[in-house]
Amino acid sequence: MNTFYEYVDFPKVPKELIEAPEVIFKKPPMTLKIQLDSPNDPAKRKHWPVAISDHLYTWLKDNIFKEEILVWYTVSSGELEAHKDVRQYCYNYILVTGGDDVVTYKKQNDKIVEYVKFEPKRWLKLDNHVLHGTFGEFKNGPRILLQITPIESYSHLDRDVFQRSIGYKTV
Ligand SMILES: [Fe+2]
Repeated sequence: MNTFYEYVDFPKVPKELIEAPEVIFKKPPMTLKIQLDSPNDPAKRKHWPVAISDHLYTWLKDNIFKEEILVWYTVSSGELEAHKDVRQYCYNYILVTGGDDVVTYKKQNDKIVEYVKFEPKRWLKLDNHVLHGTFGEFKNGPRILLQITPIESYSHLDRDVFQRSIGYKTV
């Protein structure tokens, strides 16, 4: 893809399978070794992963993702600095935008070359290997995404690096 994202035509997630934002926001962060901005001090933490329910996981596997996946909610309470992920790509489904002017951008040579306000409740595939981040005022409280990462997204890593990077053991 030329751009750093594309919307994909997957079915919408049934509302009843998604917990209320207040509930998600209060859940304890998951412990992941992957690169998320999750300092130990909760007061400084701006982005963290939260576990989804078993019901939602089952629905995602039955209806969309036949491949092996990692899934969590990502909660962001503020802007995300430009960065590249270890994974190559992921799928996002935005539940709460955080604010009407919050945008996701791609940077090249220190310049923002593309930006987009993602539509909530719509699946998109994001290229995580380009420099990307978010900016804008989080007027409505935290941003919450449902984020799916196929294991295949780490296939550029060798097995040892993969296991060290994300703490996930392959069989
Ligand atoms: Fe990222």
